[in-house]
Amino acid sequence: MGDTMFGLDTEILGKKVIYFQKIDSTNEYAKRIAFQEDEGTIIVTDTQVRGYGRKFRAWASPKGGLWMSVILKPKIEPKRLPKIVFVGALAVVEALRDLGVEAKIKWPNDVLVNEKKICGILVEGKYSESEIDYVVLGIGLNVNIEKNELPENIRSDSTSLSEVLGVKISIEEVFKGLVRHLEHWYTLFLEGRYSEILDKWREYSAVLGKKVRILSEEGEFEGTALDIDEFGALIVEMANGKREKVIYGDVSLRYA
Ligand code: ATP
Ligand code: BTN
Repeated sequence: MGDTMFGLDTEILGKKVIYFQKIDSTNEYAKRIAFQEDEGTIIVTDTQVRGYGRKFRAWASPKGGLWMSVILKPKIEPKRLPKIVFVGALAVVEALRDLGVEAKIKWPNDVLVNEKKICGILVEGKYSESEIDYVVLGIGLNVNIEKNELPENIRSDSTSLSEVLGVKISIEEVFKGLVRHLEHWYTLFLEGRYSEILDKWREYSAVLGKKVRILSEEGEFEGTALDIDEFGALIVEMANGKREKVIYGDVSLRYA
């Protein structure tokens, strides 16, 4: 990416951008500095040594990807917070669609192209039932990454922008587009315009109407993904017609 001025035209997000060539994890760094930073500070790096996803599963972060975290301090009721992952997913999908790439959202935190994972989103933070201190919205997007630069066990399920487009593109341009879309959806989120967020999410969803298998620590079940509710939970209809709400957390979703 290079240690340049980023030339962002956003009002809240990216007023300050902290760039590294290499770091453990932008989410970890963001959490370390979140208290003393204003809302909107972005950490971005060329490579991560210990990038991670949910349950601290390793996130491969070679050079050529966009690995970034945004520090947010939304003044909203904490119970509204789970939907913030949708702000990230919508922004990524729209930044990719601007490049002519038809991306879709796999509930809850992945973006897919051609049914392969191109991006993962990880929301962390410090909040209680009554108060939000900060939220870190981490986004990992495979931009110019060749198959052989990713670990062997994830090659068949993942993809990158350069693979899809057949050419390398400027990570900085992708970054700028993404931040612009993030600011748009984050503004709607702050304004409480959740139905617009959920409707767009439905439009870009890769799972609604599909047969899915939900894996959790309590066990597995199959059903049809019907909808998401106002809190972002996935509503799944089981074979016996019973509806289950699956809450964003440690569950995994597979196509059945
Ligand atoms: P699940 O796999 O349980 O459905 P998930 O896709 O959300 O959930 P996470 O644990 O949130 O998985 O994300 C980490 C997973 O992403 C890793 O286990 C690995 O399979 C995959 N992964 C790691 N690095 C990359 C990458 N650069 N691009 C695509 N996928 C990756
Ligand atoms: C997932 O699919 O589990 C989410 C992966 C999130 C990866 C990004 S890369 C930038 C930020 N720093 C991290 O260590 N993780 C997130």
